[in-house]
Amino acid sequence: MISQQNKDVEIQSLFSQENTSDTMSFFHRYNRLMSYYRCAIMEIETKFNVLNEEFSLRFDRNPINSIKTRLKKPISIKEKLEKSGLPVTLTSIEENMHDVAGVRVVCSFEKDVYMLANALLKQDDIKLVRMKDYIENPKPNGYRSLHLIVEVPIFLAKEKKIMKVEIQLRTIAMDSWASLEHQLRYKKDFEFTEDMANELLACANLSRDLDFRMDELRKLVQIDDSEESL
Ligand code: GTP
Ligand code: MG
Repeated sequence: MISQQNKDVEIQSLFSQENTSDTMSFFHRYNRLMSYYRCAIMEIETKFNVLNEEFSLRFDRNPINSIKTRLKKPISIKEKLEKSGLPVTLTSIEENMHDVAGVRVVCSFEKDVYMLANALLKQDDIKLVRMKDYIENPKPNGYRSLHLIVEVPIFLAKEKKIMKVEIQLRTIAMDSWASLEHQLRYKKDFEFTEDMANELLACANLSRDLDFRMDELRKLVQIDDSEESL
């Protein structure tokens, strides 16, 4: 097990550009910033859980299948900043990064993805920073999901902090494709061939068809709990 002291030394060496002679103050500030991001994740996760609760009460079904959250690791934060030629400092993290806090919402149907995104964005404490709709416009490799970058306030004893969170909303079919694609593509020491990329794209098309057919079934079962009725 890595001791807290070793972890602190590791973080300090990653952020050596940080202009501070006070080591303790650096750890304190790094941990505090990460704790703010964790709070922002909690806020967003709760908002989705509340929407799911309301929906299941009113329509007797759950639009959310599961929610996964993650805080970006120090080494990944450093690598991403360096890759973009940005300073590796705490201020730079706050100013330049939008995916330190990540929330992934896996939905039952494609319709639920948009219903939940709209319901979240209507809330008056949420500010949309950026939206990328890879469902409407899938990536060339077949990847589909709705991505939102939002700002959410967290209320501390003496101040209010506005934090950025990256939210990915997708169906179960989109999520299983993306998880498997990630595992295949990031296998160490293995070159991904064009044939394999084509096969993955074919699988993505199958998963899109699956979502379409499930949506047709949803209509037949007359689940028409529209966003307006929320
Ligand atoms: P990055 O965070 O650096 O990727 O920049 P970005 O925010 O401009 O990218 P984008 O919104 O396209 O993707 C952000 C995240 O979506 C990634 O970190 C992944 O979690 C997920 N993602 C994007 N494209 C793919 C893909 O092709 N396959 C899988 N499995 N996940 C993807
Ligand atoms: Mg990312």
